[in-house]
Amino acid sequence: MDKIKIIGGNRLEGKIYISGAKNAALPLICASLLTDETVTLTNMPILSDIRSMNALLEQMGTAIDCFDDFVDGHPTKTYSYRTQKFSNLIAPYDYVRKMRASYYVLGPVLAREGHVELSLPGGCAIGARPMDIHLSSLEQMGAKIEIKNGYVHADIDGKLKGAHITFHTASVGATCNILMAATLAEGETIIENAAKEPEIGDLIDLLIDMGAKIEGKDTSRLVIQGVDTLHGARHKVIADRIEAGSYGVAAAITGGRIELINAQASTLRTPIEILKAMGVDVEEKENSLIIDATNKTLVGQDIMTDYYPGFPTDLQAQFMALMCVAEGASLVTENIWENRFMHVPELMRMGANINVHGHASAIVRGVKKLSGAPVMATDLRASFALILAGLVAEGETIVNRVYHLDRGYEKLEEKLKGVGANIERIKEAD
Ligand code: EPZ
Repeated sequence: MDKIKIIGGNRLEGKIYISGAKNAALPLICASLLTDETVTLTNMPILSDIRSMNALLEQMGTAIDCFDDFVDGHPTKTYSYRTQKFSNLIAPYDYVRKMRASYYVLGPVLAREGHVELSLPGGCAIGARPMDIHLSSLEQMGAKIEIKNGYVHADIDGKLKGAHITFHTASVGATCNILMAATLAEGETIIENAAKEPEIGDLIDLLIDMGAKIEGKDTSRLVIQGVDTLHGARHKVIADRIEAGSYGVAAAITGGRIELINAQASTLRTPIEILKAMGVDVEEKENSLIIDATNKTLVGQDIMTDYYPGFPTDLQAQFMALMCVAEGASLVTENIWENRFMHVPELMRMGANINVHGHASAIVRGVKKLSGAPVMATDLRASFALILAGLVAEGETIVNRVYHLDRGYEKLEEKLKGVGANIERIKEAD
């Protein structure tokens, strides 16, 4: 298994191109299952999660092509997806266990084909991750759902029926799944307490371009009028706000200055406010964001994760790494996932002063310096928090289990090297 070696202490300066958003691309890929025409996605990130989703669709019968492309002068990939006919309607365990977001095939395949079987993903390192909202909503739309041998079997007689659904929690995954299913349902579907993350807005834009009738984008009430068929479309994936926030913290933690090309400030309001309150300069430009911590003394701030537009849980670990070297105390509260402090013991091995209270809050008291160590994390964002700590720590840090990072950070070493980090990947046979 590959490792990443970092020698800390370099101030980072320069530009980083922010890739297309993983968490937007995954449901966008599955939206292509709603039509027998071609859906083309540009500005696609090259990540192992995208490869996993592509492999899942290919085994269901989707023809996928990949082309080299340029977006705003940056080399990127364009993918086209065409599912003229399904070769099977099953999302098998071996695919789903590699990537939970495989559950995005549920809504589209059921709506188009009337039957789907999905291996239940189960929990993961950050929490139990139930799917009750996805399943009960489909039931309200007339689906017959049965759990057998670890698989969800979903069937409909004829078409899904529009329904008035209220989510007990503003789930991102359930909003995308039910939104996709409702586009081909009979009549009107209303989703109350829908999630409002920008990735959902991106999905709505594509679905509308495919011929769907949806109102309420960026609000918690979505109204969908079902149509008989959808057609092909071409769509540019939005910039990854979590990748942008992660590299913004890299600038801040090293006292550096990084211009995040393609980052959209409008999707990062709360993290930007926290950075500013800590003493970091943030300049918003039309198509970029400049994070400048040159000669700044950082002051700790409290953060509390919440549904969008609140502080994103997917930036909690990275900001906690930053609080570790800021002056004073910071209270970090995690409200979305019940087990998302797995980075804490590893940060403490590097000299951080953190006290966890229960499973939802941690007090971080800033220290003058961290020191390098071999570390490992159990999820994507926690792994990036360890990279950040390594960038500022004295000496050498080895981050193990790099496959987590490869799921969500495109060209990680290349991007950090480009702004002056001393970082390299150590290739090791599995
Ligand atoms: C998405 O996961 C993201 N994943 C996660 O990013 C992100 O942390 C999360 O949204 C919250 O923003 C993708 O987009 C692929 P949820 P998702 O359903 O959709 C509860 C990363 O690092 N819930 O919004 O699975 C659930 O337990 C990943 O890139 C139910 O109770 O998250 C949680 O407390 C990790 N019942 C809350 O809702 C359900 O049926 C939010 O989960 C579904 C969810």
